[in-house]
Amino acid sequence: MSAGILLLGDRGMLGRAFRELLAAKKRPFTGFDLPELDIAEPEQIGPLFAKPWSAVINCAAYTNVDGAEADQAAALRANGTAPEVVAAACARTRVPLVHFSTDYVFAGDASEPYHVDAPLHPLGAYGRSKAAGEIAIRGSGAESLIVRTSWLYAPWGNNFVRTMARLTRDKPELKVVDDQRGRPTSAQHLAAATLALLDRGTRGTLHVTDGGECTWYEFTIEIARLLGRTAIVRPCTTAEFPRPAPRPSYSVLDLAPTEAILGPLPDWRLNLASVVAQLEPL
Ligand SMILES: NC(=O)c1ccc[n+]([C@@H]2O[C@H](COP(=O)([O-])OP(=O)(O)OC[C@H]3O[C@@H](n4cnc5c(N)ncnc54)[C@H](OP(=O)(O)O)[C@@H]3O)[C@@H](O)[C@H]2O)c1
Repeated sequence: MSAGILLLGDRGMLGRAFRELLAAKKRPFTGFDLPELDIAEPEQIGPLFAKPWSAVINCAAYTNVDGAEADQAAALRANGTAPEVVAAACARTRVPLVHFSTDYVFAGDASEPYHVDAPLHPLGAYGRSKAAGEIAIRGSGAESLIVRTSWLYAPWGNNFVRTMARLTRDKPELKVVDDQRGRPTSAQHLAAATLALLDRGTRGTLHVTDGGECTWYEFTIEIARLLGRTAIVRPCTTAEFPRPAPRPSYSVLDLAPTEAILGPLPDWRLNLASVVAQLEPL
């Protein structure tokens, strides 16, 4: 009998969304995260596969985009080498692997949505480590579904929506970049859409985000509106906020192949309203 789903990184932002979804659907699963499991330690992976899992969902990752520039080796271990080892175990035991990747694998200089097959051209160390993970999984022989996503937010954890909910509460005025365009993604929506794809037996590389697109400034205006904030929000440029890692200026992921399977993905304003209504204490 199957042991259910093996959920790696189950206490991160997306991992928690999966935990809650699987529990609500009464789907058996077992979750692991740091410190009890370090997926970057290859000898810790083999023993996990003593059980007959129905699928592995890997939400564990090194996600500190700026930190990755200073510690490229750590990012590569968690985002490149670890998925390779997990995928090899999945191939050996014939268990399908679901893995998450990012818009940061692209250069962000396009003017139309990035197709799933667009060439990878990461700008920084985080994107390079995630691209390495994708390439390793594709070459592993495992049955896999790689889901690229972007601008993830949830009622919990560290994310842009929670940061802006706090800043628009605590500051009378703030500036937000208006020259980076992308697709926000509710972690709860991403988990539900990914499980639906897995249940349909979907394999390959797909994009899952909220529908529509916006800049960080436009996203903030809607967050502030939903929360009834009176803070003044002004648009600014990326150049005004220099960061260690370069940011893609255009990271809209093409959703057409995903929508051909699942139907239209809900607009970001709808998903944002749902998440804002559930925001945990800031
Ligand atoms: N956040 C975004 O905007 C975004 C955008 C595009 C794609 N993604 C991708 O979406 C996925 C989920 O991201 P997320 O935002 O949910 O990330 P997250 O909140 O940082 O969660 C990642 C989880 O993995 C854990 N982890 C890190 N290194 C590990 C290791 N070596 N062994 C075991 N667990 C480890 C983390 O533990 P600690 O917290 O203790 O480090 C954390 O619980 C990732 O693949 C990420 O690359 C995220």
